[in-house]
Amino acid sequence: MAFDLTGRVAWVTGGARGIGAAVCRVFAEAGARVAAMDVDASALAQLERQVSGFKSSVKTYQGDVTDSGSINRVVEEIEAQQGFIDILVNNAGIIRDRMFRNLSLEDWQRVLEVNLTGTFLCTQAVIEGMAQRRFGRVINTSSISSLGNQGQGNYAAAKSGIIGFTRTLSLEYASYGVTVNCVAPGATRTEMTRTLPVEAIERFVRKIPMGRMAEPEEIAVVHLFLASEEARYVTGQVVFVDGGISVGF
Ligand SMILES: NC(=O)c1ccc[n+]([C@@H]2O[C@H](COP(=O)([O-])OP(=O)(O)OC[C@H]3O[C@@H](n4cnc5c(N)ncnc54)[C@H](O)[C@@H]3O)[C@@H](O)[C@H]2O)c1
Repeated sequence: MAFDLTGRVAWVTGGARGIGAAVCRVFAEAGARVAAMDVDASALAQLERQVSGFKSSVKTYQGDVTDSGSINRVVEEIEAQQGFIDILVNNAGIIRDRMFRNLSLEDWQRVLEVNLTGTFLCTQAVIEGMAQRRFGRVINTSSISSLGNQGQGNYAAAKSGIIGFTRTLSLEYASYGVTVNCVAPGATRTEMTRTLPVEAIERFVRKIPMGRMAEPEEIAVVHLFLASEEARYVTGQVVFVDGGISVGF
């Protein structure tokens, strides 16, 4: 069975590169009309070049998940150009790693703002419309770090918060045909992990039962399932996609 998103409109935040861009490609291949939103205009332009041959459209929108004015403008544009949003992938995220003794309030707040408050704001912009239309898929992004990771107190707090948010919203919207789930990737080969010290990555990879990092597409196929019609009875779940590492936690 191939999952088919024909006729669906998907909004992917942080969609210009990494896991978000892989979600855009996979959703477009499955027939969706895809709206990739990102703060990074040059990465969006690069994505446009990558997806120009796909059977369904990917349109790009510059916007910031921490700015409700920007979110409202982008949502209006997507709905005018592509139709009502059926699927929201809250993927935009940042890290600012510091051991707790060196963690500033600013680094704490910014990481919570982008990862957690950004998820809240984007969800708030579309979920009532989904409920009225009796179809919706909200797919949030947690992380293996939600289980605890040295130097990531801010990020782990945000990614754990996203799990509580997901589970609660799944209860509030279950009777409206809107599912709310969460993908929790392990170490994945993207720009985000490229910025980390090589030794830290190597140490982490040695603990992964599959012995390697994930490719972004290996994460995005889980989004595809959760976005599909076939996943209609799956809600409130956190799917770890991590080569088995969370099993040993
Ligand atoms: N790469 C990993 O190993 C890994 C592991 C677990 C979870 N994650 C999570 O997966 C998601 C995607 O990560 P990635 O590895 O692809 O990272 P990435 O840095 O390659 O991509 C993140 C994208 O989000 C965008 N972004 C950042 N702040 C934004 C904002 N305020 N508004 C809109 N867009 C914004 C960036 O410009 C970028 O294009 C993140 O939520 C991340 O926390 C990643």
